[in-house]
Amino acid sequence: MSNLEQTLSIIKPDAVERNLDNEIKDMFKNNGFKIVKEKKIQIEKFEAEKFYKVHETKPFYNDLCTYLSSGPIVVMILEKENAILANRDLMGATNPKDATDGTIRKKYGISIDKNSVHGSDSYENSKIEIDFFFKD
Ligand code: CMP
Repeated sequence: MSNLEQTLSIIKPDAVERNLDNEIKDMFKNNGFKIVKEKKIQIEKFEAEKFYKVHETKPFYNDLCTYLSSGPIVVMILEKENAILANRDLMGATNPKDATDGTIRKKYGISIDKNSVHGSDSYENSKIEIDFFFKD
């Protein structure tokens, strides 16, 4: 049965700063994702805090929010069959040193913080995250 899904992807400041956004977008397209909407923006720290609220009790929360708001990012709605899982597979492990060959984080990630991309981790969060950036 077909299961066309949409998921939210963010190309993070470390990748945009290195001008990797087009290469990363090509990786999505070459892996069958359609980029339905996209925009390059810079967010304020309070917006990053809202976006990453699920992590607010974690020790890395403050640094994470400072980092996501530190420079331009590219936010995209990606569409594909089983897009949420397919995107997580293509991104690779959160920590680039654990990511396998062929994944975005293996190829471009610098550290667990500067891991180049974010992707929704569940169907429920994909709805919340898409609304966060693209609610008209
Ligand atoms: P992301 O998929 O954007 O979701 C939360 C981010 O927190 C994660 O990628 C990492 O970049 C960052 N992070 C920093 N430290 C950790 C950690 N110890 N465990 C998980 N994520 C971390």
